[in-house]
Formats: sequence, structure tokens, C-alpha cells
Amino acid sequence: MTTMESLIGLVNRIQRACTVLGDYGGGTGDNAFNSLWEALPTVAVVGGQVISPSSGKSSVLESIVGRDFLPRGSGIVTRRPLVLQLHKTEEGTEEYAEFLHLPKRKFIDFALVRKEIQDETDRITGKSKQISPVPIHLSIFSPNVVNLTLIDLPGLTKVAVEGQPETIVEDIESMVRTYVDKPNCIILAISPANQDIATSDAIKLAKEVDPTGERTFGVLTKLDLMDKGTNALEVLEGRSYKLQHPWVGIVNRSQADINRNADMMLARRKEREYFDTSPDYGHLASKMGSEYLAKLLSKHLESVIRSRIPSILSLINKSIEELERELDRLGKPVAVDAGAQLYTILEMCRAFDKIFKEHLD
Ligand code: GDP
Ligand code: NA
Ligand code: MG
Repeated sequence: MTTMESLIGLVNRIQRACTVLGDYGGGTGDNAFNSLWEALPTVAVVGGQVISPSSGKSSVLESIVGRDFLPRGSGIVTRRPLVLQLHKTEEGTEEYAEFLHLPKRKFIDFALVRKEIQDETDRITGKSKQISPVPIHLSIFSPNVVNLTLIDLPGLTKVAVEGQPETIVEDIESMVRTYVDKPNCIILAISPANQDIATSDAIKLAKEVDPTGERTFGVLTKLDLMDKGTNALEVLEGRSYKLQHPWVGIVNRSQADINRNADMMLARRKEREYFDTSPDYGHLASKMGSEYLAKLLSKHLESVIRSRIPSILSLINKSIEELERELDRLGKPVAVDAGAQLYTILEMCRAFDKIFKEHLD
């Protein structure tokens, strides 16, 4: 595994290729590529928002990345799915981000990443504050991340806010459902500790689509904001709502920390200290916090992908056959755009096939 590309990185590349083909994201194409996309495991981030208290969804994602880069504000901020691919790089290398729609541009300044997410959202949705199922793909290369792909989705909401169409409540729910309904989707369900877990939108949805809790990871934020004298052990120890995977508690930056631009790495250390010194959660300390959550998800995703290698391989081979047939139909040699593109994809599939097979040995 040292010289080999990570399995998560490999799946990232296939997902990007499927997106470039253009038939994922509202597409209806019934082809091998869509089946391939369906078969690839994803991690979808689900949480409630707008209605107070917010779940802390953006904060969890930023803690996992260790950078401050997501658009912020009131109302529905995430209006397109954000496919966030994290790539761990060597210690000491510079952190940077790259968008699929701007392949030649390296973003070093994460404030510009935030602005680009906003601008690219508006490019598709207009300023109408509508939502769109067309994903934005963002890759972050950093020594401070684990290999992991997460899909940030619009927060579940109960009311349309001013300027937003009435249908937005159902539109968001059905967009989130297209992801979480997939049996291969791992659900990261985020709820705040200062709200009754029974009323959590994320848990309600997870319960519905994954009643046995085998593909749901429960995350409880805002532990530091609970009333003095109370704690979240009922939830964290799985008595309030049982999942197959252990619950993970999180302490993100407070609004005051954000206002004073508190450093994310410092925030990670403070979170660690919070658990290490907590009289309530001390016995769970090693299994709490955003760094632990990131590692847990990465390990889980890797093992799910590993178990699916045979079926992914067979779908890649179906794609290869389909592409070969299509190329035959077009007639060789193909110099025209469509043929050339198909040919590139075919080569890519062959390369995937080869690397996956190496992972099997
Ligand atoms: P979202 O709307 O679900 O994406 O929530 P955000 O991540 O934007 O967080 C909303 C607000 O809650 C911000 O002011 C955050 O600083 C605050 N917040 C989120 N998580 C925590 C936490 O664990 N502790 C504290 N004290 N504040 C938090
Ligand atoms: Na949220
Ligand atoms: Mg948010």
C-alpha cells in the first residue's frame, strides 16, 4: 500500500470521470457508468439547519479538513452538493485546493476557495437562491487530512426563508434522499447536543432509510454548550438511539472563536484537551473529537471499498465493453471529438481495472 495509490483516491478518480461524462447529477442515462457511480461508496453529510439550533455541519467539515473554507451566512448556504475529496500528502508539503471546473488553478488561499464555492454555486443557480443537484467537486491536498471523500448536502430545513421558493423544503429533502437512499451511501448524521435527539432531522432521516443503523455514523456537536450539570452520555453511549457504529462527540469552534479567526489547528488541540480533561467523557476520550471522526470514516470507507472491489471490477469491465461497442459503432480510427473522448475514457477504465486488480493481490 505504500507505492500504490490509495483505494479512496482511486474511487475519487472514477467518481470524477463519471461526472465528467456528464450523465451523473440529474442525468437519466441508463448506462454502465451510472451503475458504476451507484456502486461506489460515498459519505454524505446530513444535518438540519436554519431552524435554531443549527447542527454545526459546516463546522464539522472544516474541523475534519483543519481549514476554514466553507461559505457562511444565514439562510440556505449550501445550495449544490459539494463533493469534497481529501488527499493526504507528505508532511511539510504545502496545502492547496483544486476545483474540477478550474483544473489549472491551484488555490493556496482558502478564503478564495470559499469565494469560488459561492461564485460557482451562483453560476448554476443564479442569484435566485434556488438549489441545484449538480455537484461542485473540490479536492484538498494536505498533510493534515486523511484520505476521505465527503459529500456536503444542503441542510434539511422546515421553512423557506425570504426570497427562497416555497418548494425548497421538499426540494432539499428529495435531493438529500437521492444520496442517502443508495445502499452504498454512508450517512454522517450531525445533530447538536443542545437539542433533543428525538427531534434531530438528520437522525429522523437516517432512521427511515437505514433502520438497522449499519451505514449511519452519528455525530453529536456542541457538547460544550449543554446546560451545566447535564451531559450527553445517553446519546454517546448509544442508549437514546442505537447505531451499529459508535457515536462520536465533537466540540467545534464557537461563534466567538470564528469571529476572532481562531486557528483551526489550535481548535483541534483545544477539542482534544476538552475530552482528555472532561469529568463526563474522560472514559470515551480516545474515541471522541473531529480528528478521531476523520480517521474512523477513512478506515471505514477504505474497508467498504475493499469489500466491493470484485463488483466494482465487474462494472468497470462492463463499461469497457460498452465503450468498445460504442467506438466500433463510430468506426476506427476515431479522431473526431466524441470518439477521442470515448477513447480517453476507455484508457482510463483499463487503467482502473489494472490498479484495482493490484489491490486484490
Ligand atoms: P450549520 O448551519 O449546521 O452548517 O452550522 P455551523 O457550522 O455554521 O455552526 C453554526 C453556529 O454554531 C456557529 O456559530 C458555530 O460557531 C456554532 N457551533 C457549531 N458547532 C459548535 C460547537 O461544537 N460548539 C460551540 N460552542 N459552537 C458551535
Ligand atoms: Na447544518
Ligand atoms: Mg452550514
